[in-house]
Amino acid sequence: MNTEHQKLRVAVVGGGIGQHHIEAYQQLGDLCEVLAVCDIDTAKARALAAARSIPRVTGDLGELCRMDDLDVIDICTPPHLHFEHIHQVLDSGKHAICEKPLVGSVREVDELLKIEAASGKRIMPIFQYRFGHGLQKLKFLVDQGLAGSAYLTTVETSWRRRAPYYAVPWRGKWQTELGGVLLSHAIHSHDMLTYILGPISSVFARTITRVNAIEVEDCAAVALEMADGSLATLAATLGSTPEITRHRFCFQNLTAESNTAPYANSGDPWSFTGDTPEQAEQIAAALEQFAPLPEGFAGQFFRFAQALAQGTELPVTLADARTALELITALYHSSRTHQRVQLPINHEHPAYTSWLPTSAAEAQ
Ligand SMILES: NC(=O)c1ccc[n+]([C@@H]2O[C@H](COP(=O)([O-])OP(=O)(O)OC[C@H]3O[C@@H](n4cnc5c(N)ncnc54)[C@H](O)[C@@H]3O)[C@@H](O)[C@H]2O)c1
Repeated sequence: MNTEHQKLRVAVVGGGIGQHHIEAYQQLGDLCEVLAVCDIDTAKARALAAARSIPRVTGDLGELCRMDDLDVIDICTPPHLHFEHIHQVLDSGKHAICEKPLVGSVREVDELLKIEAASGKRIMPIFQYRFGHGLQKLKFLVDQGLAGSAYLTTVETSWRRRAPYYAVPWRGKWQTELGGVLLSHAIHSHDMLTYILGPISSVFARTITRVNAIEVEDCAAVALEMADGSLATLAATLGSTPEITRHRFCFQNLTAESNTAPYANSGDPWSFTGDTPEQAEQIAAALEQFAPLPEGFAGQFFRFAQALAQGTELPVTLADARTALELITALYHSSRTHQRVQLPINHEHPAYTSWLPTSAAEAQ
């Protein structure tokens, strides 16, 4: 943090989704300023810097790391580069924010936990969907003890991707995208599930590639047992017209249902239906006390700045990324072995060091 004017001085690497990160930092102008943008496509970086009035441009992450006046480097590069880039950023004495999927295995998350602890700096994975007001209201009700036991949750991530999306060379391939609909798209919806309900105890999954001519999966059907004893189902596809995302949480005292806007379903409106008229009144009274904070990327960066200033836990932690990547590991392992897989995933699990397929048969 710059002690002179107390703003976080940020640089963003990768000018794809990174553009939306820059917009979010600039919405939080009292807390953050974007001093530099970096992309190996320097024409893209220059255009972005000009459009968003960012003073510095580089095509080299190493050069960014040598800028002593930066507090944070936000990594929005393709997935297979994340581990190396996070490591480089922490070595340079800066905090790292990094897009999903954070890294390529549970082992790499465990290595980052050690690197973070030794560095004195922080690593924040991106899960911006958490901060939508609808999901935040559910979290608020659960934290107030108004939901009761969870029974069953259904999560649908039904999006559409067509051939042009896969013209970007890193997409659709195991070695560079590291996964398909489960890793790249539904990871947000599944993080929303564990954000509310906590750990998963076992998974049974089937995945297929059926929509596009790609290596990685584009459809998945999953049954989960949660550690709290409830059940959940996950359905994910890139072959749905129209696109929707939907969460439906059935608790003892209330049922919560999201809206179905595909890329904004954690935001309002959600419905919260009490099981009895008295419970409905309690829910309505509690929601009067709900105090909204910023949503989406701005919501995550706002909470990040607060947590750094106050020395508190980050809004998304390496433990959260571990939960997400343990689930990924278990889902792919279950689909390939046709077995139920128990969590947590530790160093003894055969896919601890990588969930990538090890043979042509596994890649199917
Ligand atoms: N949180 C979300 O909602 C969300 C949405 C889309 C993408 N993502 C994630 O963001 C990441 C990037 O995805 P994208 O869609 O923006 O990809 P993209 O290909 O559109 O953009 C990535 C950019 O990184 C640049 N780049 C590649 N290697 C680099 C390097 N070594 N140094 C500097 N720049 C480099 C590329 O030139 C490109 O401009 C992925 O991990 C993806 O899963 C997250």
